[in-house]
Amino acid sequence: ASLAAAADPVPHTRRTQDRESGRAPEAPAGFANAPDTDPAIAANRRWMRGILARVPTSDLGVRGVAEHTVSDSEALDALLEAGEGAGRAWGGRPAAERAALLRGAADALEAARARLIEVMAAEAGKTPAEADPEVSEAVDFARYYADRCDELDATPGARFHPVPLTVVAPPWNFPVAIPAGGALAALAAGSAVILKPAPQTPRCGEVLAAAVRDAGIPRDVLQVVHVDEDTLGPLLVTDPRVRRVILTGAYETAALLRKLRPDLPLLAETSGKNAIVVTPSADMDLAVRDVVHSAFSHAGQKCSAASIVILVGAAARSRRFRAQLVDAVQSLRVGPPEGPETQVGPLITPAGGKLLDALTTLDAGETWLVRPRRLDEEGRLWSPGVKEGVLPGSTAHRVEFFGPVLAVMTTPTLDAAVRIQNGVDYGLTAGLHSLDRGEIAQWLGSAQAGNLYVNRGITGAIVRRQPFGGWKSSTVGPGCKTGGPNYLQALGDWERAPGAG
Ligand code: ALA
Repeated sequence: ASLAAAADPVPHTRRTQDRESGRAPEAPAGFANAPDTDPAIAANRRWMRGILARVPTSDLGVRGVAEHTVSDSEALDALLEAGEGAGRAWGGRPAAERAALLRGAADALEAARARLIEVMAAEAGKTPAEADPEVSEAVDFARYYADRCDELDATPGARFHPVPLTVVAPPWNFPVAIPAGGALAALAAGSAVILKPAPQTPRCGEVLAAAVRDAGIPRDVLQVVHVDEDTLGPLLVTDPRVRRVILTGAYETAALLRKLRPDLPLLAETSGKNAIVVTPSADMDLAVRDVVHSAFSHAGQKCSAASIVILVGAAARSRRFRAQLVDAVQSLRVGPPEGPETQVGPLITPAGGKLLDALTTLDAGETWLVRPRRLDEEGRLWSPGVKEGVLPGSTAHRVEFFGPVLAVMTTPTLDAAVRIQNGVDYGLTAGLHSLDRGEIAQWLGSAQAGNLYVNRGITGAIVRRQPFGGWKSSTVGPGCKTGGPNYLQALGDWERAPGAG
């Protein structure tokens, strides 16, 4: 812990705020990440309980009724036409105007925090601890991209050509932060946006867009559309008026888009199969905390989640690490999102397919360190499971389950651990817990992932501090990272921009 602190004076976590009094802690100079709600403050817990009281309790989350469902190609055409026209006007406005509107959007998103948390709990089953930082991240994206918009505009000799229309297609697991990241970046880059929320979380997209429009961004510049993904979805992404698609979803979806439209300028963040390596020099208390949070927050339904922990040398033989891990996992409180005690909420749909297999079966050599249990009739609430004895090349080593299952693997050396960590198709996030500078340097030089975290959990990238994006099969497109300095450039017309390709 002390090594991490010494190496990086900027705290790895967000500041927090008292929501009731509105008292804000002192912000650092320049860009400051929006503070999360501090649950240690009694007034904040009351504020949160008020939000949760509005979340329907019946079935672990309701499906919202979408307001802008488009069910025929004429309606879709009208939407595309409006978007393209609005985008040309929007891209022609001075960058400073767009940046000012985005700063207004940051304030509007902050003002909509309670409503956004409520709709995330209702649709995605997110607990307040998971939903609240998503709002902070959305606010951060608005402010950060406003700054980049100004900067891009001030760069001498930069020839930046906005494209009129971008489609943003986010997933259900971060139904506010991820669409906010894509949409606000495209808006900053001078493009109109058609936001197609995930079918599981339509209202999250609508509440988000309503907040952004509250700041004065015209309706046709940010449209929300719900289309059937099998019929109108392909028409939307293959329409030539759509000049860019920002997708976050399964690798298979990105591959399908590529096939549907090979010339499509696509920025896609896809799947992950992410591991945390723990060496004998690690602070084991911190390692257990970070592994458990990275593996089981939002029931493991994150592309960034830890699904493997690789114990090295004496750490592999350590009974203490295992005992603490078992204790920590067994003490997690699983329940509906509106329960104030809940730490692990429901799955978005009942466990099925490869996730159900992972929760109910073991491969050769594996045993349960913590056996998962189904806690409801439907199969959406599961106590988390931990399997050990997982072998390199096995399903638990290589396949993304997207749920609450953690694999424990062991190796004699850090070298061998990195080979296991890198021995998957994906490369999104990776973690190391070690207090040895030599090990940290060795690992940073050899781990293959877009986001490398040392002595920190591997989920919850923070805008500007940890630009987020993948490597290998975790990314399709130019590979630039959200919340980082070069994202907006990738959203302009790179065919005509000098030196780009
Ligand atoms: N940006 C999200 C995270 O870092 C996916 O967990």
